[in-house]
Amino acid sequence: MNGHRGSILLVDDEEKILKALGRALRAAGHEIVETTNPRQALRLLAERPFDVLVVDNIMPETSGLDLIREFVAGSEGRTDVRDARSAPPAAQRGNGASAERVRAAAERGEGPQIVMMTAHATVESAIEAMKLGAFDYLQKPFEIDELLVVVGRALDHQRLRTEYRYLLSERDEQFDHYGIIGRSRAMVGVIRRAERVAETKSTVLITGETGTGKELVARAIHDRSAQRHMPLIKVNCAAIPETLLESELFGHVRGAFTGATTTKKGKFALADGGTIFLDEIGTLTPALQSKLLRVLQEREFEPLGAERTEKVDVRVIAATNRDLRQMVSDNRFQEDLFYRLNVIPIDIPPLRERREDIPPLVDHFVRKHAQRTGRRVERIEDGVLSALQQYDWPGNVRELENTIERAVVLSPGPVITARAVSVIGAATPQTTGLPSLKLRQNIEWVERETIRRALDSASGVKKEAAELMGISQRALSYYLAKYRLD
Ligand SMILES: Nc1ncnc2c1ncn2[C@@H]1O[C@H](COP(=O)(O)OP(=O)(O)OP(=O)(O)O)[C@@H](O)[C@H]1O
Ligand SMILES: [Mg+2]
Repeated sequence: MNGHRGSILLVDDEEKILKALGRALRAAGHEIVETTNPRQALRLLAERPFDVLVVDNIMPETSGLDLIREFVAGSEGRTDVRDARSAPPAAQRGNGASAERVRAAAERGEGPQIVMMTAHATVESAIEAMKLGAFDYLQKPFEIDELLVVVGRALDHQRLRTEYRYLLSERDEQFDHYGIIGRSRAMVGVIRRAERVAETKSTVLITGETGTGKELVARAIHDRSAQRHMPLIKVNCAAIPETLLESELFGHVRGAFTGATTTKKGKFALADGGTIFLDEIGTLTPALQSKLLRVLQEREFEPLGAERTEKVDVRVIAATNRDLRQMVSDNRFQEDLFYRLNVIPIDIPPLRERREDIPPLVDHFVRKHAQRTGRRVERIEDGVLSALQQYDWPGNVRELENTIERAVVLSPGPVITARAVSVIGAATPQTTGLPSLKLRQNIEWVERETIRRALDSASGVKKEAAELMGISQRALSYYLAKYRLD
């Protein structure tokens, strides 16, 4: 575990100690840069990356804690930094530019792991340093072996963090627009607005019919924001009984109501530092509308039955398929709340108003489901695409995806047929615009029946049933699981 080597910046005003520690670390294979001067340290940190910073707390002029504070937290505007005893940070005295750069890197999570060395008398500053994000501390006097172990662990930690950052950036590239497909003017506008709002912490209101991709856009905003490593908590306001929703959102203390046997955190508290996605916001009762308004205004709330107020720092993304403006005029939705939510509106038009998005969406879903079910799909039968483009898609993208998923599975060979798209097969899609698709439940019934009958005729032998239907065994297993036919 402690096998790998790293680059270490060593800061101690006592030359002799500095040299001794440097020698030991070098002997362990690490690359060491030493300095007795904290300001020089800041400059070095701005110039090149280090894996670990080992810093002595007791230095004249600038303490190790000052240096760390400068490095991690910045000198102004942070309320969590309190230490009246210490001198003003070094960077305020002439190192502004490099300190700024170092601080920005630390904020992006790119800085080194910090290990502080401290004497017994100043253990409190070590704890303060830990609060500021230092990795560990060593209490003087310590054995060289202790130093090597702590540095080794800091390096492991740093390596994990680098890998994590790499994975995040990979994910960013992979889903360039976070899986939001669309080339219509409207969707390009939606994507651009989502990208821009991701950089802020503003409240967002996403509107659109069912299945237009509201949740997808909400996730994209979170995944692109600076808070993307913090939680994204989803609450479906329509799915939770009214009586439970308040405690779900704000939490409760033990004994707050019958059945509240423990204290429970609410979704707002869980989302602290990240994003809360309030889906189906149009279904909130007037009482909860008022409570939500207060959170949006004051950024604080009280858990049910609690005496104290809790503060939260969350971005709110709300979504609805209802016309909230209309609800405001009908006195069914509080006007103040509407304006608090509607800071950045993103409206996703129904698919029938952006039919040019249908071909790239079909392409995307064919690939996705071919891969998932193990089918090989070469092309789509002539005429099918234009039929898909003419249909009105009342269930929007979700309905399109379900249709394609089914077609991928039910097409007999590597060509997606009109018959597979229109499962019931009574009419060709060209002439009727997929009338049968309007009743999704019918289709699921047909699918289940087809599979059940095939299994019957094959006396339960899956391989044969799959052959009868002209689908792969893998596709069959997928459908057996979907319909719980196993
Ligand atoms: N532009 C798009 N590109 C790719 N996939 C999409 C797009 N829009 C929607 N989808 C997919 O369609 C499905 C429905 O999307 P989503 O759940 O985001 O819709 P919604 O607007 O939240 O619907 P509802 O109002 O019913 O909750 C999801 O599987 C989503 O991934
Ligand atoms: Mg949704």
